[in-house]
Amino acid sequence: MELEGKTAVITGGASGIGLATARRLASSGVNLVLGDIEDAALDGALEGLTKEGAKVVGVHCDVANEDDVVALRDKALAEFGGVHIVFNNAGVVGGPTIGTPKKVWDWVFGIDIGGVVNGINAFVPYFLEQNEGHVVNTASIAGLGGVPGTGAYSASKFAVVGLSESLFHELAMTGKNVGVSVLCPGFVRTRINESHRNMPNELISYNEDPMVKIVNDVAFNAVNNGIDPVDVAKAVEDAIRTNEFWILTHERVALSMTEQRLEWMKGGRPLMINLEAATKA
Ligand SMILES: NC(=O)c1ccc[n+]([C@@H]2O[C@H](COP(=O)([O-])OP(=O)(O)OC[C@H]3O[C@@H](n4cnc5c(N)ncnc54)[C@H](O)[C@@H]3O)[C@@H](O)[C@H]2O)c1
Repeated sequence: MELEGKTAVITGGASGIGLATARRLASSGVNLVLGDIEDAALDGALEGLTKEGAKVVGVHCDVANEDDVVALRDKALAEFGGVHIVFNNAGVVGGPTIGTPKKVWDWVFGIDIGGVVNGINAFVPYFLEQNEGHVVNTASIAGLGGVPGTGAYSASKFAVVGLSESLFHELAMTGKNVGVSVLCPGFVRTRINESHRNMPNELISYNEDPMVKIVNDVAFNAVNNGIDPVDVAKAVEDAIRTNEFWILTHERVALSMTEQRLEWMKGGRPLMINLEAATKA
C-alpha cells in the first residue's frame, strides 16, 4: 500500500506500540484516528503528535464495546473522508492460569480478543467494499507458545493468531485488495506491565495476590529490558507497505518457540520461553 494521504485507525494509540506506530505513520503522511480508554494519555498523545505536524484526532474508546469501535470508524470517515488501515492493538495482561478469577479472564478476553473482533467487524466490510484496506492485529510471542503466569493473555493472543490466519484465507478467497498482518512481538519497553491501571475498580484488589505480584515482577523486568517501540512501529509500517502477514519483531525467539512446539508434538521436550532471548530483536 502507498501510505501518503491514507487514513489509519489505531486502538490503544495513546501509549507504547500504538503511539510509536502513530508517530511513524504520521511521518509517512498518514492521517490518524487514535482510540484509547485512557483520556489523559490520549490528550497528551494528540498534543504531541499535532505539534509534530500530524493530522490526528482522538476518540475515547473501549475496544471491548462494539459501538465504541464503530464510532471510531465513523469518526475517521467524517474527519478524513475514508479509512484504509486499522491497527487492532489495544491490549492488557491478566494473571496466571491457576487461581485467576473468571471476571479477570473476561476482562482480558473482552479487550484482547473482543477488541480485535470488533475491529474486524467494523472495518473489513468497508475495506472490501472500497477494494482497499489493511488490518493489523496485535498478538504476541505469547500467541506462539504458552507462557507461564499469563493464562488469559496467552489464550487471547493464540486466538488473535488463529483468527488472523482465518481472516488471511477468507480475504484471499474474496480476491479483493485487502490484507492482514499479525504482530507477534517479544518484550517491548511500554506500559503493558502496568495494565492494571485500566482495570475496572472491582477487580483491582486481585493484583495484591502474591502469585500475581511474582508474575508481575518478572514481566516488569523483561518489559523494561525489551526493545524500543519505535522498532516495532517500523516493522508494522513495513508490513502494511508490503502486505506481509507475519510481523516478527523478535524473529529468533518466535521461530525457536514454533520449532520447540513441533519437537514437543513429536514427543520431545515441552517448549519453554527463554525470557532473556525474548527481550532481544
Ligand atoms: N510491550 C510488550 O512487551 C508487548 C509484547 C507483545 C505484545 N504486546 C501487545 O502490544 C499491544 C500494545 O501494548 P503496549 O505494549 O503498547 O502497552 P501499553 O500499555 O503501553 O499500551 C496499551 C494501550 O492500550 C490502551 N487500552 C487498554 N485497555 C483498553 C481498552 N479497553 N480500550 C482501548 N484502549 C485500551 C491503554 O490505555 C494503552 O494506551 C497490546 O495488545 C499488547 O498485548 C506488548
